[in-house]
Amino acid sequence: VRGAGVHLYDVEGREYLDVYNNVPHVGHTHPHVVAAIQRQVATLVTHTRYLHAGILEYAERLTASLPAPLDTCLFVNSGSEANDVAWRLARSATGGNTGGLVFEHAYHGITEAVAALTPSGGRPRDPRVVTLGLPAAQLRAGDTMSDAALRASARDAEQALETLAARGLKPAACYIDSGLTSSGILDPPPAWTATWAGPVRRAGALIVGDEVQYGLGRSGSHFWGFERRGLVPDIVTLGKPVGNGYPMGVVIAPRALVEAFQAKYGFFSTFGGNPVAAAAALAVLEVLGREQLMANARATGEYLTARLLALLPRHPVLESVRGVGLMIGVSVRAHGELPAPRVAKFMVNHMAAQSRVLIGTEGAHGEVLKLRPPMPFGSAHADRLVAAIEAAADALGAL
Ligand SMILES: Cc1ncc(COP(=O)(O)O)c(C=O)c1O
Repeated sequence: VRGAGVHLYDVEGREYLDVYNNVPHVGHTHPHVVAAIQRQVATLVTHTRYLHAGILEYAERLTASLPAPLDTCLFVNSGSEANDVAWRLARSATGGNTGGLVFEHAYHGITEAVAALTPSGGRPRDPRVVTLGLPAAQLRAGDTMSDAALRASARDAEQALETLAARGLKPAACYIDSGLTSSGILDPPPAWTATWAGPVRRAGALIVGDEVQYGLGRSGSHFWGFERRGLVPDIVTLGKPVGNGYPMGVVIAPRALVEAFQAKYGFFSTFGGNPVAAAAALAVLEVLGREQLMANARATGEYLTARLLALLPRHPVLESVRGVGLMIGVSVRAHGELPAPRVAKFMVNHMAAQSRVLIGTEGAHGEVLKLRPPMPFGSAHADRLVAAIEAAADALGAL
């Protein structure tokens, strides 16, 4: 019923450690963001037919942090809307191409077009969309891929493009969630990116960098997740964390692309980029800088990863630790009669009920514990999390 920083409180006033929520990016009810929203609500709340200084300032701050070609913003209200508009932009820029490429188990949102680009959770696959294979889950920061693995990945991309062509489709866009979150939280090196981005671009598709999960410094090493992948997308989409819980989505693309789209279709979103959303989003950028939260994500992520890796030899049910910064996955093994996804579910529920630590699951079948807290998560929080994981693993052993 209440949140503050990295904690949530239930109706009885009990405190929970929140290792699940990435929407309150700079922390639940951060006072600076709350004050900015309150001030703006009391000053002006309106649609976006008139320009407001807040959204102009935000667009300038955002585009200053992005590679040069990504200089123009369209504002919407969610990650799904941002990905939907990106799809329309890509179709417009490619002369109406209808084929889409996404990674196995990716999640990109809920509109009709974007749900078709979302094969996560076993959802039916749209015949206009083909999936690209994933890099090996065990790749850790700094790991390289063998030439054979890189060649296999390139072949996979070529095959996906051939499948589209065989269906009579030309590709409009390839989407990548740079954290490969719902695919199991993977962290491949830039050499992997080159294996698919080259063929995909040569086939005429635009690359959409979906930063809804991984943007705003979550990796701890780069402000934008695509930088970590060694990629400059043609279009970038943002959602979830940008307003710290106030609804906001952004599409950023080169000016010429946006202007051509505007000229053809026009674009207007009543609430997208409204003065309150802009105030919230500006405040989020300010807190990120002031509190050095990307550096915190790096430091805590390194500490947490080391502590988790130390658990593996002691708890055979814990299989691997993946990801970086404050986007970390722990894959689990089957235990006795319980298959791995049931083990993960048992651990999530045990941690919530017994330790009051909230986490989630990801991966093809939900076999990966997802650790994705608000960005002010520190080493003492990491200690509490690790103790809760150990307690859950012990409880499983005692079943
Ligand atoms: C990578 C990614 N893209 C897009 C979305 C859709 O965002 P929203 O739920 O705000 O529409 C999500 C939501 O979980 C996501 O994880």
